[in-house]
Amino acid sequence: MRNIHLVYFSATFTTRKILREIARVMGGNVIEHDITCDRPSAKVMVDGEHDVLVAGAPVYAGRVPRQAAEALRAFSGNGGPAVIACVYGNRDYDDALAELQDIVDRQGFKTVAAGAFIARHCIFNDVAADRPDTDDMRKIDNFATECARLLASTPDVSALPEPTVKGNRPYKESKALPLFPSADAELCDGCQTCARQCPAGAIPEESPCQTDGDKCISCGRCTVICPRHARAFRGMPYEQIVDKFVKANAVRREPETFFPAPVNGPTA
Ligand SMILES: Cc1cc2nc3c(=O)[nH]c(=O)nc-3n(C[C@H](O)[C@H](O)[C@H](O)COP(=O)(O)O)c2cc1C
Repeated sequence: MRNIHLVYFSATFTTRKILREIARVMGGNVIEHDITCDRPSAKVMVDGEHDVLVAGAPVYAGRVPRQAAEALRAFSGNGGPAVIACVYGNRDYDDALAELQDIVDRQGFKTVAAGAFIARHCIFNDVAADRPDTDDMRKIDNFATECARLLASTPDVSALPEPTVKGNRPYKESKALPLFPSADAELCDGCQTCARQCPAGAIPEESPCQTDGDKCISCGRCTVICPRHARAFRGMPYEQIVDKFVKANAVRREPETFFPAPVNGPTA
C-alpha cells in the first residue's frame, strides 16, 4: 500500500477539505502535514518508489501563498509522484498552479496530475458561497480516481511527461492585499483562539482585538475560528469594494484538471 503524504496550507479549511477528499478517494495510508501554522521540524524524505505527495494550497493574488511555498521546501521527493491542487475563490488562479508545480518539482517530485478547484472566497464570502458543492465534490472524486488509476498503471513515473497546466512563467507579481480583519470589542471575550491560531502571528495574545497590519496576510482564519464571530472583514476600504468584487466574480467557474498528454506508442 502506498503512503500518501498529504500536505496543505489552509487558513479557512476549504483547501484541507478538498485535499483530504482527493487523498481519501485515491486510497492508501494517509500521513497528514498541515503547514498552515507550522513547518515540519525536520526534512520529510518521501519514499520515491512507494509513496505519493498530494499537495495543495489556496490561491492568494494569483500565486501560492509565500508561507506555503517556504514550508513545502521541507519535503524531498526522490523522484516520486506528486498530485497537486490549488483552490481559489472563483476569481482566477492565474499562475498559482504553475508555481505549485514548479515548487514540488524543485523538491524532487514528478508532478503527474494537477487540478484547480473552487471554494468560498475567504475575504468576499458571498463569492462562491456554497462551494465546493455536490457537483464540485463529484469532480474532485473523479480527479482522484483518475490519479489513482494513472499511478496504478505507471510503475515508473519518470517516463511520464509532465502535465501542461494553465499559467504563466514568469509568474505575475505577488501582491499583498491591504484588507485586514478587525475585531468587534463588544463581541470579543478575550479567549485568544484567534491569536493562537493566526498563521502569521499577527494578533497579540495580550490584546486579541488588535491586528498587526505589517504581519497580517489577510487569510481570514480568525474570521472563521472566532467562537463569538467577533472578527470579520469590515469597515473601509473593504465596504468600498465588496459589492463590486462580488458582482465581478458572480459567474460560476468550474474545476479544471490536467494530466500528462498521452505518449504515442510505436506505430505498427
Ligand atoms: C490574500 C488572499 C488573496 C486571494 N486571492 C485570490 C485570487 O487571486 N483568486 C481567487 O479566485 N481567490 C483568491 N482568494 C480566495 C482564496 O483563494 C479562497 O477563498 C480559498 O478557498 C481559501 O482557501 P482556504 O480555505 O484553504 O484558506 C484569496 C484569498 C486571500 C486570503
